Amino acid sequence: MMLTVAAVASLPPLPSYWACTTSESLALPFCNTALSIDQRVDDLVGRLTLAEKVAMIGPNGTLGNECADHTTGVPRLGVPQWMWLTETNTAVNSACFKPGVCATTFPGPMNMGASFNRTSWRAKGGVLGSEMRAFHNMNWQRNIGDQQHASLIAPTGFGPNINIARDPRFGRSSELPGEDEREDPLLSGTYAAEMVSGMQEKDAQGHPKMLAYLKHFTAYSVETNRGHDSYNISLHDLHETYLAQYELAFLSSGASGAMCSYNAVNGVPSCANDYVLNTLLKGKWQRDAIITTDCGAVSNLRGPPVNAPSPEHAAAWALNNGTDIEMGSDLFPNHLMSAVQKGLTTEAAITAAVRRTQRQLFTLGRFDPPTSRHTTINSTEHRQVQYEAALQGLVLLKNDAKMLPLRAGSRIAVVGPQGSAKQGLVSDYYGDEICWTDDKCHGTDCFDCIVSIAEAVSAQNVGGRTTTAKGVDVDSADTSGINLALKLAAEAEVVVLALGIDKSIEHEGIDRVDTSLPGLQESFALQVLALGKPTVLVLTNGGALAIDVLVSRAEPAPYAIVEAFNPNQIGAAALGETLFGGANRWGKLPVTMYEHAFISKKEMTDFDMSSGVGRTYRYYTGMPLYPFGFGLSYTQFHLTCQASAARRYGTPAGAANYSYACNVTNQGSISGDEVLMLYHSVGDAIRAQLDHPAPRRALIDFQRLSVVPGARASHQFELSEKDLMIVNANGEKVLYPGEHHLVFARGAAGVNDDDATFIVQA
Ligand SMILES: *[C@@H]1O[C@H](CO)[C@@H](O)[C@H](O)[C@H]1NC(C)=O
Ligand SMILES: *[C@@H]1O[C@H](CO)[C@@H](O)[C@H](O)[C@H]1NC(C)=O
Ligand SMILES: *[C@@H]1O[C@H](CO)[C@@H](O)[C@H](O)[C@H]1NC(C)=O
Ligand SMILES: *[C@@H]1O[C@H](CO)[C@@H](O)[C@H](O)[C@H]1NC(C)=O
Ligand SMILES: *[C@@H]1O[C@H](CO)[C@@H](O)[C@H](O)[C@H]1NC(C)=O
Ligand SMILES: *[C@@H]1O[C@H](CO)[C@@H](O)[C@H](O)[C@H]1NC(C)=O
Repeated sequence: MMLTVAAVASLPPLPSYWACTTSESLALPFCNTALSIDQRVDDLVGRLTLAEKVAMIGPNGTLGNECADHTTGVPRLGVPQWMWLTETNTAVNSACFKPGVCATTFPGPMNMGASFNRTSWRAKGGVLGSEMRAFHNMNWQRNIGDQQHASLIAPTGFGPNINIARDPRFGRSSELPGEDEREDPLLSGTYAAEMVSGMQEKDAQGHPKMLAYLKHFTAYSVETNRGHDSYNISLHDLHETYLAQYELAFLSSGASGAMCSYNAVNGVPSCANDYVLNTLLKGKWQRDAIITTDCGAVSNLRGPPVNAPSPEHAAAWALNNGTDIEMGSDLFPNHLMSAVQKGLTTEAAITAAVRRTQRQLFTLGRFDPPTSRHTTINSTEHRQVQYEAALQGLVLLKNDAKMLPLRAGSRIAVVGPQGSAKQGLVSDYYGDEICWTDDKCHGTDCFDCIVSIAEAVSAQNVGGRTTTAKGVDVDSADTSGINLALKLAAEAEVVVLALGIDKSIEHEGIDRVDTSLPGLQESFALQVLALGKPTVLVLTNGGALAIDVLVSRAEPAPYAIVEAFNPNQIGAAALGETLFGGANRWGKLPVTMYEHAFISKKEMTDFDMSSGVGRTYRYYTGMPLYPFGFGLSYTQFHLTCQASAARRYGTPAGAANYSYACNVTNQGSISGDEVLMLYHSVGDAIRAQLDHPAPRRALIDFQRLSVVPGARASHQFELSEKDLMIVNANGEKVLYPGEHHLVFARGAAGVNDDDATFIVQA
């Protein structure tokens, strides 16, 4: 490639993970861009010794943190090391480049899920892909604290995390987009498919901006003993609930691979699961996908449930069963060669893993002359995508006496521990540094740039007076701040009560044992409500909160409740704008908000979706505080739907297609967004003959629409027989003949009186 000197002068140095940059290597066939990728991969792999191969598929501790997975390069061929793991769940997990140039951090995945907006999910992926490539182009580091090693950002990203938000107690709920998993199309799978499509968008030369790997594959949602637990999961539940979202994401977005999870299913660890990794993923869904392990999962094989007798066994079992790259422990580099000698695995299996993984780096352009040179991070456009996403992921749960929107120019007290919190508003997996606003923040997590809820309210309350006091901590017995907070609340016209949980309560490694508000928050809230002031309760959390006592009261004054999940960097600003009516773009709950008693009815380690009281809106038989899909608006919408005649293509036996036209009318006086949801369930006659569980209802499509006052927005839902299938006892999708029910609803089914129900014969 020819570049003029003038053009090169202002560009950053070449990324040092790039191969084919030395004149010696450029003469080799694997660097020859005129050859096909397969020819080039064959050439590279054919030059490697067995020792070089095993060093390329596991971490080298002398190069950096083993979890970050710096795999050894082949210096004699001009192939440098590669660091595989950069997190990409809410942002590119990078160090800030300089003040104001930090990764754009999106609102927590629950907020993203709540928007039910495919365009927003894809746009988020697009921003992550661009910033990933930009950090890489700038030769930038993952973690500024890790000065000892050159942990340069390589464009291989881990996230989205799409484990089902199966139980509100799961410590990593804040990383997940919701509780809905059903393959066609639904929430988590669609979220991942759109996000990954954005992340892996191609540049003008045909190279994806980055490669995206899904987490954590699969059936992972308990932290306690996560490295060795085995869960009992039926084939029905495995396929319907724990695999479906991955299947959708692989089939429709070409995700590059997945990180296998710590846990085991029915005694088989995820990173040594031949059926899931080889038969399903590589056999049926995507031949070229690769599997990397969660940190240390290969060494975990030495313990329960499989107790591999030697490190050679552990390494060989993982490799033979479909794992390509080890992370966080170093059994592949150190023991695979002797495993070959002992006959536990073969050089061919090692070569295949090297070929698959290096092939992906060829598609990424690692062995081509660098093309993309852009360095766009935290651009105006990226911030717009981020803010627009934040506006769409808040959920209005209650708005008695239309107390919202708030009026600017009022006396407002923002009380509660989350009102002034900054770090407390973030979900797990933001950038290594979320912001760098001045020198003091460089090198450690810095949260100055996070907009607090009190700051956001104050910014909107123009001409008014905003006071703030936390009252109580998120979780302590300290009562010393209560009097001041109650005094400010009593002096105000309106109270914003900001409660919730932060990373001290739910976190990777910490599950909650209780779902109610921790510490003194609940009793403090009751004291505030007893003042009789119009009050808006704002909740911030990953896993849902059981606020029974704050929902079911007859309040003396107007009362509103807003679920804000994890606002992260700028979500509180979007909340402020929305509370004051500048936006009316509410989302819908992507999870069930269970009443407190739920946790005593269903064990966390019970992975059966339907036994007992059941889990998620698909199987829960109890009465939740708020159902999946619930969410109000400042305006009034009305839904009507009409069936077009079922069309049957081809022979009489051909698949039927169903078409429904829905109108949403905005009967109020302000513009707003509404989300239409389409649920399927089998009729009673079918249900009576089943030998396996069937969901009470399952979301099969959704559409978000913006409607101006007095107008209507329309959407045509197109279905096929495939949408009427359910998963049988063997994990297969089947269409049962007989009556099927379709319900079109404005969010949750069975809540509004304008649900449109249709009966279809299959
Ligand atoms: C780890 O990396 C260092 C530096 O490149 C190298 O000298 C060493 O051989 C590598 N170790 C292994 C086991 O490949
Ligand atoms: C992004 O840029 C804006 C405008 O320059 C700045 O206010 C903000 O702090 C930056 N954020 C990050 C995370 O770098
Ligand atoms: C799984 O099933 C086995 C055998 O029935 C039982 O011993 C074990 O306790 C179950 N594990 C869980 C986590 O329920
Ligand atoms: C696959 O892993 C299991 C443990 O999950 C192990 O018992 C089995 O031997 C492995 N298969 C091969 C071919 O190594
Ligand atoms: C939707 O609105 C259009 C235009 O008013 C009307 O023709 C159509 O019948 C409506 N459909 C339904 C299902 O209400
Ligand atoms: C969906 O998200 C995109 C990107 O944020 C936005 O432009 C669009 O208005 C949203 N659609 C609806 C109906 O809210």
